[in-house]
Amino acid sequence: MPFFSQTVEHIRSSEIRELMKLATRPDVISFAGGMPNNNMFPVKEVDEIMQNMDPEEKKIAFQYGPTPGYPLLLETLKEYLRSKNLPVDTHSLMITTGSLQAINILGMEFIDPGDVVLTENPSFIGGIAVFKAFQANIIGIPLQNDGLDLESLEKVLEKYHPKILYVIPNFHNPAGIIYSKEKRRKLLDLLEGKGIILLEDDAYNELYFNQKSKELTAPMMSMDYKDIDIVYTGSFSKILGPGLRLGWMLAPPEIYEKAQIIKQGIDACSPNFTQVIANDFIKKGYLEQYLNRIRKEYANRKDLMQAALKKYMPKEVYWHEPSGGFYFWLHLPEDIDSTNILKRSVKNGAVFVTGKTFDPNANKNNALRLAYSNMEKAQIDEGIKIISDAILEEIKNIQKKAFIQISK
Ligand SMILES: Cc1ncc(COP(=O)(O)O)c(C=O)c1O
Repeated sequence: MPFFSQTVEHIRSSEIRELMKLATRPDVISFAGGMPNNNMFPVKEVDEIMQNMDPEEKKIAFQYGPTPGYPLLLETLKEYLRSKNLPVDTHSLMITTGSLQAINILGMEFIDPGDVVLTENPSFIGGIAVFKAFQANIIGIPLQNDGLDLESLEKVLEKYHPKILYVIPNFHNPAGIIYSKEKRRKLLDLLEGKGIILLEDDAYNELYFNQKSKELTAPMMSMDYKDIDIVYTGSFSKILGPGLRLGWMLAPPEIYEKAQIIKQGIDACSPNFTQVIANDFIKKGYLEQYLNRIRKEYANRKDLMQAALKKYMPKEVYWHEPSGGFYFWLHLPEDIDSTNILKRSVKNGAVFVTGKTFDPNANKNNALRLAYSNMEKAQIDEGIKIISDAILEEIKNIQKKAFIQISK
């Protein structure tokens, strides 16, 4: 038996990974995977870019590049981030191998075993996995429909000295919510002078469905604040394709300096090949066109799922209708275990991700995540019916058990 490191001991097997195996069964309708449908990628545009690539650019694409990123992409990305009022002139930008790598780098830079890291509860499984791997003591702060529960946060801030607060303010994975302007303001005020790093993960920034939610997406890093170190991360995964493995990190210079050294030891540089493509994609004006296309498509998918949920879900289930992103988060009655529902609905041909997967302490399981980004649209109604029936059966089952208990 090999002697595994303590890091490995702290990695828990991901329920999502297990589910992905199930989800690939051709007869199963999967609402599990939080990724775009294969038919939605901008294949034509990228084909055109590859056909017309300058011979010198092609050679660069094959070569190693500077650790912080392909210089032309860094410049293009700076312009893009500047248009969102992000402080690209006072902060430093680094291209990372997916934004998950940025979270990893930050973990390596700041977390010693036992350090307190705060996340939302629920939170992105990838972020939780990183903090666990660095043996952080993760405390989950409840998430409300307009952002973090600030009363809970305040108590935790007083009691512990957390190193990092990790948040996903726009079109949250898995909760599907967006932070209100007021919550963002209060959060920045609350964190002032606390010596905590605010890790603002903005992977879904562009995926708004209407003007009102677009206006809400302004990152906290673009607002007025003082005496807080904010690290902002973003990704090409939702706006071009996760296969490119490109993300970015905008950080105060001090944090960036160490991050660069860490990245050098991980992979020297992010793929130059895809950085060249991403740069051309933006420069040729394809990004805006593509975003307009996918925003419409995701909004349509969301509408179909909302209609099916309203049609089939038992009255005990409630949810917040998303105004962007990929996800519905269903709240179930307290005593319902979503793993039991999953077992029932897998048998009938539909899968989703159970609530506890997104709880940093893997406790709370009376919720579930449905992604509308990936399966065939025509399957939404049928799949939601299967899951609704499974929930109804489980509710009846629990009520029957409670009745037998009382009658004894
Ligand atoms: C909230 C959030 N952050 C980060 C990521 C990671 O994205 P990337 O592909 O850029 O590593 C995801 C992917 O699903 C996500 O949902």
